[in-house]
Parts: sequence; structure tokens; C-alpha cells
Amino acid sequence: MQKFNIGVVGCGSMAQTWIEYARQRKDCEIKALVDLDLDQARKTKKEQELSGADTFSDINTMLKQHDLNLVFDITPPEAHYETVTKSLSAGCHVLGEKPMASSMDEAREMVARAEKTGLTYAVMQNRRYNKNIRSLRHMIKEGIIGKPGLISSDFFIGAHFEGFRTEMDSPLILDMAVHTFDQARFIMNSDPVSVYCQESNPPGSWYKGKAAASAIFEFDDGSIYTYSGSWCAEGAQTSWEADWRVNGSRGSLLWDGEKEPRAEIVISEDEDKFINDFQTVTPEYKWQGQNGHQGCLDEMFSGLKEGYRPETDCRDNIKTMAMVFGALESSQQGKKINIEVNC
Ligand SMILES: NC(=O)c1ccc[n+]([C@@H]2O[C@H](COP(=O)([O-])OP(=O)(O)OC[C@H]3O[C@@H](n4cnc5c(N)ncnc54)[C@H](O)[C@@H]3O)[C@@H](O)[C@H]2O)c1
Repeated sequence: MQKFNIGVVGCGSMAQTWIEYARQRKDCEIKALVDLDLDQARKTKKEQELSGADTFSDINTMLKQHDLNLVFDITPPEAHYETVTKSLSAGCHVLGEKPMASSMDEAREMVARAEKTGLTYAVMQNRRYNKNIRSLRHMIKEGIIGKPGLISSDFFIGAHFEGFRTEMDSPLILDMAVHTFDQARFIMNSDPVSVYCQESNPPGSWYKGKAAASAIFEFDDGSIYTYSGSWCAEGAQTSWEADWRVNGSRGSLLWDGEKEPRAEIVISEDEDKFINDFQTVTPEYKWQGQNGHQGCLDEMFSGLKEGYRPETDCRDNIKTMAMVFGALESSQQGKKINIEVNC
């Protein structure tokens, strides 16, 4: 059995989920914990009962002192580039939190480093690992609504965070819409070619940066995806998975992000009818994997063990980053932007 000797970098709130997952696997041992705040690393060691793990306040010392083959990067977004490139260069695979990077240039260099070292770098996109989104995607692939042309998602949540998100210039797009944009790529099985986006910081916002945005993406199959979102929306909240509508040539699919998706499709086309009759269709396909982080980590580890690239490998995830940075560039320049991955 292949054994993973793991160093965890960043021991804040999300790290606890990753550590709990690794502790349940027989093939994982957490050898070291790093946090800029050494007390946080020590607290995690104690609370997670990792008596055999060493604690550090910088990644360089950990990589020098330990013979690791896997690093978990659970640092804030601006530290991902350094954490990932140093770990890959030290011979470790990396599984890390979203968003992959703070810029497209960084993301391209991270992909190049993974290519050069032949190691895996895969990114957490937990919102793909959900039985309902997989049913939705399957229904579209099966052609139940015909050819999809318009897709929309609404994301409205009033999240009262403390910490790095309240200081970011674009917390919604960079830290949250990265999930929703990735879900759109996943649902449509297609990649974006252009975007027009406008960000704002609505009245009453408790964020320093822009916590709301509207964006229109064109995909390479010709379909149009519109995104509306706010992270300072009080009342009438959507789910964290967003509220979706996919409109196709023979019907529409609706998913509120929580319950099963359902389609309404045309029963028969009658030229005399102003509005057609429809029937409701529910999904037959039921995905059996684990939900959220656990599902994504299951797949990442299967990829490492069986030698295949997981769904959220950096070479795929950079396309989601291109949506994020394309939207930010459009918002800054006030014009439509072509989306290019270029790597
Ligand atoms: N996938 C999801 O649903 C989801 C949810 C929440 C957070 N996240 C992501 O997880 C990451 C961490 O978020 P969090 O909520 O745990 O943040 P957090 O602030 O609770 O924890 C981050 C920790 O990293 C430490 N840190 C900062 N820079 C570091 C560095 N260079 N080296 C080592 N440690 C460093 C901080 O001291 C802090 O303890 C972010 O990228 C965030 O976007 C993902």
C-alpha cells in the first residue's frame, strides 16, 4: 500500500476538515503542521490528537527537515503560489484549497511547475462533488432539454466573515464565485471564451472590497451563462451551491442547489399552440460518491494512487481561474474580455 507522509500548511478553520479526512485514511500520516502563527499549529496538533506531528512557523524548515511526499495547502489565497511551487520543487504532490492563485501569471507558473516535476497539483472544488449537481449534468448530457443555450445562477448570501475576506479587493469573485464558475463549467461540460462583468459593493456592505457582481460569459459551445451574486445579501438567501436554471431547445432544468433538479420538457410540438404543454422529469442517474470535501479528496487520492489526473487537476482548474481573472479584468476595464488560458 502506498503511504502518504503529509505536511499541512495553514492550520486555520478549513484545515480541520482536511486533517479529519486524512486521519480516517489508513494510508495517510500527518508528519508536520505549519502555520505562520505557531500557536495555531500547536493548537491544531493538540485538538486533532496528532502527537507524532512536528510544528513549524515556515514551510522551508518543514520541507528541509521532513521526507514528505504530499502537502496540503490550506493557506489564504495569496499564499497558495509560494506554498505550491515550493512543495512541488521539494518533490511533494500538492492538494490545495481554492482559489488556485492570486493571478493568471501565478496559475500558469504553478501548472508549469507541476508539468516540470511530473507531480500532481489538484485544487479543491468541493461543490462539484454533490449528487444533485451530478444528476443535473447527466440530464444535460443525455439531451433531456435538447441543446442548452442559456444558463443562469443566482448566489445571494449575507456571510459575516472575519479575517482575510473582509480585506480582499474582490472577495466574492475570487473567494466564492470561483466555486460557482467552476460549477458552470462542470454543468455545461464546456469552457468560457469571453466575459463582461461589473462588480459593486452594495449599500450596507461590511466588506472593504467589492462583495457583489453580475457577469455574462460566452461558452465555446455558443451558450451564454449569466452570474448574479452578493456576499452581503441580507434575507431571501439562496443555497451555497447557488440557484440554477438551464434553458434548452426542448425544455428547462431548475436546481435550487439543495433539492433534486427537475426538468420541464415539451410533450409535443403543436403549431397551433401559443404555449406548449410540458411534463416534469426527475433524474434517474444517482451519483454514489461522498459529498463535498470528502468526495473531492476521495477522487484526488484515487488519482494519486492509480496514476490518473483528477477532475480538478491544475491543468483543468486553470480554466476556472481564467473565468475569475477574466471577470476581474472586465470589471476593472469596463469592457468585454476574451478569456485565454495560454499554457
Ligand atoms: N472549499 C471551500 O468550501 C472553502 C471554505 C473555506 C475556506 N476555503 C479556502 O481555504 C483556505 C484557508 O481558508 P480558512 O478559512 O481556513 O482561513 P483561516 O484564516 O481560518 O486559516 C488560514 C491559516 O493559514 C495561516 N497562514 C497564512 N499564511 C500562511 C503561510 N504563508 N504559511 C503558513 N500558514 C499561513 C494563517 O495564520 C491561518 O491560521 C482559503 O484558500 C479559502 O479560500 C475553502
